[in-house]
Amino acid sequence: FLQSGGRKPLAGRRAIVTSGPTHEPIDPVRYIANRSSGKQGHAIAAALARLGAETILVSGPSGEPVPSGVSMVRVETAREMLAACEAALPADIAVCAAAVADWRIDCEAVQKIKKEGGALPSLALTENPDILATLSRLASGRPSLVVGFAAETEKVVEHAVAKLGRKGCDWIVANDVAPASGTFGGHDNRVHLISADGAEDWPKMSKQEVAGRLAGRIARYFEDRT
Ligand code: CTP
Ligand code: CA
Repeated sequence: FLQSGGRKPLAGRRAIVTSGPTHEPIDPVRYIANRSSGKQGHAIAAALARLGAETILVSGPSGEPVPSGVSMVRVETAREMLAACEAALPADIAVCAAAVADWRIDCEAVQKIKKEGGALPSLALTENPDILATLSRLASGRPSLVVGFAAETEKVVEHAVAKLGRKGCDWIVANDVAPASGTFGGHDNRVHLISADGAEDWPKMSKQEVAGRLAGRIARYFEDRT
C-alpha cells in the first residue's frame, strides 16, 4: 500500500483507536479490570499511522510504548474512555480494541475499605457505557468505518456474528481467547474478520501482522469508495 513516492493511502483520514484494559476503582487502592496488554490496539494505531492516518490512541493502563506518529490519550475508566473518544471526533475510522470492563462499582468508596470489623464487603455493580455501540450508533458524525473486536472463548465466529449485529459496527475482528490459545499477553493472534459479507479466517500471525493486515484492509475500503 505504500506506493513509492506516492501518497500514503490513509493520508487525510482521521482514526480513533481504543486499546488496553480499563480500571474501575473499588476504592482508592483497588480496582476491577479485564486482562489486556494493549499490544493489539497499540499495533493497530501504529499501522494506521504508518499508512498516513492522523491517529488518536485512547488507551487504558498499558505498559506498551506510545507508537510513533500517534497521539496518545491515557484514561483509566470506561467512562473516561468514552469521553476521550467523543472528544476526538470527528473521525473516518474507529477501531475499538480495548478490553473495556463491562461493569463498574456502583458506589466507589472514598476511603480504603478496611478488613477489620469482619464483614465481607459486597460490591454492587452497574453497567459501563458501551463505547463501540455508542460510536456505531452516532446519529450524526458517525465514523464511516467502525471496527470492533470480539474476544471469545468458544463458538468464536457465531458469537462474533451476533455481536456485529448487536453493536451496529461494520466489521468485527473475532479472536479466540480461550486459555489454550495463548492470546493474552502473547505475541500471536488467530482472528476472523467478520463483516456483512461473511467471515474470513486469517491464519495465526503476530499481533503486528494482524494490525498491518487490518490497516491494509481499511485503506482498501476507502480506496474502493472513492
Ligand atoms: N466494548 C466497548 N465498550 C464496552 C464493552 C465492549 O467499546 N463497554 C467493545 C470492545 O472494545 C470490543 C467489543 O466492544 O471492540 C466487544 O467487546 P466484548 O467484551 O467482546 O463484547 P461485549 O458486548 O461486552 O459482550 P461479552 O463481554 O458479554 O461477550
Ligand atoms: Ca465485555
